[in-house]
Amino acid sequence: MATVKGAATALEAEFARHFQRSAERYQRATRVLPAGVTHDSRHATPFPIYVERAQGARKWTIEGHELIDYWMGHGALLLGHNASTVVEAVQAQLARGTHYGASHELEVEWAEAVCRLHPGVERVRFTNSGTEATLMALRLARAFTGRPRVIKFQGHFHGWHDYLAYGVTPPFDAPNSAGIPAETLRTVLVAPPNDLAAVRALLDQHPDVAAVIVEGGGGSNNLVPNDPAFLRALQALLQERGVVFILDEVISGFRYAPGGAQERWGLRPDLTTWAKILAGGLPGGAVGGRADIMEYLDYREDDARWNRHGRIGHQGTFNANPLSAAAGIACLREVATGQPTARAEARAVELRAGLAEVLERRGIAGWIEGTASVFHIILAAPGMRPDGPIAQRFQQTRGPLAAALRQAMLLEGVDLMHTGALVSAAHTPGDIAFTVEAFDRALTRLERAGMLPLQ
Ligand SMILES: Cc1ncc(COP(=O)(O)O)c(C=O)c1O
Repeated sequence: MATVKGAATALEAEFARHFQRSAERYQRATRVLPAGVTHDSRHATPFPIYVERAQGARKWTIEGHELIDYWMGHGALLLGHNASTVVEAVQAQLARGTHYGASHELEVEWAEAVCRLHPGVERVRFTNSGTEATLMALRLARAFTGRPRVIKFQGHFHGWHDYLAYGVTPPFDAPNSAGIPAETLRTVLVAPPNDLAAVRALLDQHPDVAAVIVEGGGGSNNLVPNDPAFLRALQALLQERGVVFILDEVISGFRYAPGGAQERWGLRPDLTTWAKILAGGLPGGAVGGRADIMEYLDYREDDARWNRHGRIGHQGTFNANPLSAAAGIACLREVATGQPTARAEARAVELRAGLAEVLERRGIAGWIEGTASVFHIILAAPGMRPDGPIAQRFQQTRGPLAAALRQAMLLEGVDLMHTGALVSAAHTPGDIAFTVEAFDRALTRLERAGMLPLQ
């Protein structure tokens, strides 16, 4: 055991030497930034890497190390870093102003682009993030139905606001944050994923459910994949019960198909939430859907009572700001051709096959999960199977093994998000081949560190 610990420490020590300037920056950061980071997912063992520039599918750390990037702006960069169309649109807009404090044509054009890609989406309201989008979707559903409760699924992530930061990681009967009032948590019911009987039972038991929200691309970026047949049955059940069906397409939107998971799997949600690719790599989110629900944002002429008490309120200084709108329009114009989505998926198919082949050749237990341009590497604990408890997936992809895999991959020139992530249209077949070879070498490092095989 002493040798294993020593070897694991040796991996970490090599990592610390390789990314020494990042370690120093992190020390400085911890003095002014809680946890030293600005997003929980960027917290890393022993410290996060610091990046100073990016282009296409690559980014460069402050030490000058080139990395193939699979974070791709937390999934926002389907076109890759600094796609020329987006850069040109933003530069042109920058010269014309970043905030008019007034309506502008770009917000209309942006909303039209979203509606064109989604036949069931009649109207759209922009927000600043996916968190704000799911928050607004819940408020719309509650106003529309007059009911307070929502159902979500174990392992599904919808942002960090109080209403949905619940049951995302194991144990699923606990909130994912301190500081959420018990009263708020009581408005959320958590169902096992892909389990229609469980949803039906919750609806039978609780007549006050306004909405069911589901991550379109599968829980936690498809770590917990959705069964499309379940989604279609869920939609039918909710229609029958008059419960609002919210499809959270913050990741799957424009990625699973130009029209998202709803296009890929033939769904017609009542409301959809987007962010990430929507704004072409700049901040932005949106809610869209049925006109009779979205009209709860409308003002009514000569109806002061409705305007004060009936409609839902929504502000936000940077909603649909011209820079995000310009980037979003440029990005969605490319998305509408179908090419970026198809290209990213083609590369991801190659990557998943290559990674799986490495596991098989080396006789390492595990599998590669993924849909469209998303992938997860699951290094299986003994007895773990793809149809086993979903909590195991979180243990294997979030714990010390995952941290070691990420360190080893970074030393080999690849930046994974946890143990997988997102492929973009900018990744080339050469990048994929490089990543597969890097994975092979990273596994050798883990073996040397005594972290594989798992027993
Ligand atoms: C499915 C899903 N919904 C909502 C969010 C929250 O979006 P944002 O980070 O823009 O607040 C995320 C973020 O990763 C997400 O993956």
